[in-house]
Amino acid sequence: MSHYHLKSADAFQKAYQASVDHPEAFWDKIAKNNFIWQKHWYKTFEWDQKNTHIKWFLGGQLNITENLLDRHLIHNADKTAIIFEPNNPDEPHQEISYADLAKSVNKMANVLKDQGVQKGDRVCIYLPMIPELAITVLACARIGAIHSVVFAGFSSSALAARINDCQCALVVTSDGGFRGPKTIDLKSIVDQALENCPVVQRTLVVARTHQKSDMVPGRDLWLKPLFDQASDQCPATTMDAEDPLFILYTSGSTGKPKGMVHTCGGYMVYAAYTFKNVFQYAEHNIYWCSADIGWITGHSYILYGPLANGATTLMFEGVPSYPDFGRFWAIIEKYKVTQFYTAPTAIRALAKESLDFVSPYNLSSLKVLGTVGEPINEEAWQWYFKHIGGGKVPIVDTWWQTETGGVMIAPLPRITPAIPTYATLPLPGIQPVLLDDQGQEITETEASGLLFIKHPWPSIARTIWGDHQRYVQTYFGAQTDKYMTGDGATRDAKGNYRITGRVDDVIIVSGHNLGTAPIEDAINEHELVAESAVIGVPHSIKGNSLFGFIILKGHPDSEENLKSAINQCITQHIGPIAKLDEMVFTPGLPKTRSGKIMRRILRNIAQKNFDALGDTSTLLNPEIVAELIQVMQKKH
Ligand code: WT7
Repeated sequence: MSHYHLKSADAFQKAYQASVDHPEAFWDKIAKNNFIWQKHWYKTFEWDQKNTHIKWFLGGQLNITENLLDRHLIHNADKTAIIFEPNNPDEPHQEISYADLAKSVNKMANVLKDQGVQKGDRVCIYLPMIPELAITVLACARIGAIHSVVFAGFSSSALAARINDCQCALVVTSDGGFRGPKTIDLKSIVDQALENCPVVQRTLVVARTHQKSDMVPGRDLWLKPLFDQASDQCPATTMDAEDPLFILYTSGSTGKPKGMVHTCGGYMVYAAYTFKNVFQYAEHNIYWCSADIGWITGHSYILYGPLANGATTLMFEGVPSYPDFGRFWAIIEKYKVTQFYTAPTAIRALAKESLDFVSPYNLSSLKVLGTVGEPINEEAWQWYFKHIGGGKVPIVDTWWQTETGGVMIAPLPRITPAIPTYATLPLPGIQPVLLDDQGQEITETEASGLLFIKHPWPSIARTIWGDHQRYVQTYFGAQTDKYMTGDGATRDAKGNYRITGRVDDVIIVSGHNLGTAPIEDAINEHELVAESAVIGVPHSIKGNSLFGFIILKGHPDSEENLKSAINQCITQHIGPIAKLDEMVFTPGLPKTRSGKIMRRILRNIAQKNFDALGDTSTLLNPEIVAELIQVMQKKH
């Protein structure tokens, strides 16, 4: 029996059971029967628990682009692979067929090769959501270069840190990008970053906005002339299943971002399998994920998962509020989108606006609605269900992470029940467990605890680029035989999971994963700042907002100016997404005797829950609590 496409609750249950009883046999069959491999693997799975080395499909050889592109050319060459909807609705859209996409990918692959890029080299991609982004990602995969896409909202220092960490010799960027009413000058951000990246020999520049760009002689080249003259034939480089496919950076609990490494074989199998089932993609469907390809959601569910299934995937360059708050719904009507996947923060922001932005549009094409990135609250869920889904379309709340490569816990639409605010059941191959504070597995079904995953699945990130010890520590440090997610969860009597949020120093703001440490490092760069602590405070649209407690080492002329200067530091070191919503200046921070900041106390103080502070007498500096309360009371 094929477990690839799960069409009923019964098929799902059987597949799930099989995947737990015999994980290797389960994935072996799916991988063998649904993909093109150049060489079959000699061993399905290997897990060296002592050194935390995880491998899938050992000795198997493939090129992922043969599965994304070449194989569809036989029967579906003219089918639309990518629909590109530009920021400006008056600019013509593009429909790129599988045949055209394959040609463009080959051309780009040849351009990269001509520039000296070889298998295993790292290529940094810093582009807006334009077709060249998709093409460059796939071109890297075609020749076995490891892509490192950096979200084009990151600042020049954040970009430089990512380029240097994995030593990218080449950067692909554009003159600029369109985002709503704004034009963003990407090239000058790259120029600034590269002042600190001696390793970069070459930048290829896409002309998108046609604004003036300073081209550095000997380093910068416009892409178009190279692309136009490149051959549209490029053999696919043979890759081992365990060769890295890409690096994608995510925040952690120290200032340095973690370069998560995903590999060719396992990632392909899991991204494709989960796309098919979580979205129940069927022939002629039009699928749209509104994420940016700079995040894992875009990697797995705009590009790799959909294209592996021969789907039509929509790429949107703009923002939900431009030209007005009806843009998402206009796009759904325009292309008769069948599956729509977005973030709770976008839903909350749009739900706040008048329904007059929704009602003009015919949304009857929709069959599945998805959410990802953060917990979805009941109100937002109900609004999405009622006003976008017309009370009929199932919602899949998908829980997963950059590190997991694909969706881990989610309902299957019309197959397993959706429950508002619950990600519900694990997908086949995923064995969640809840641990208590002592690290003991909780055996009762109804429980709350720390979410761990028992058996590695094919698309688990294999390592952190250049720092395997940090990988071991972060994910397998607590329990060597279980992956630590860093999230807390509640399980109901039927085994449904509800994700309650991070239990570490990561804050999810508008669906973006932000570490407190890098933000604090950026704040501390300001000459008047001695120390700082950033915490998350519940926010009605963003999920969490950022609140900073800051100790100064001098007197500012104006507190307001200092606050904007501090946010300027954050914008410069990380990007505008990490700016603080609120900050207070304080004489000290509550610390334990070992010097650790007590964030729990700060969270309560920031929310003015002064009665919930608990026993503070064991602090190193208990007197600071009363002072902080005063600071907050003075704040309006
Ligand atoms: C963290 C991972 C992978 C998608 C984009 C985010 C939170 C993600 C959900 C959900 C509750 C969620 C978790 C997770 N998260 N999806 N459906 N319900 N929380 O990837 O940036 O690596 O962040 O996002 O806290 O650990 P990421």
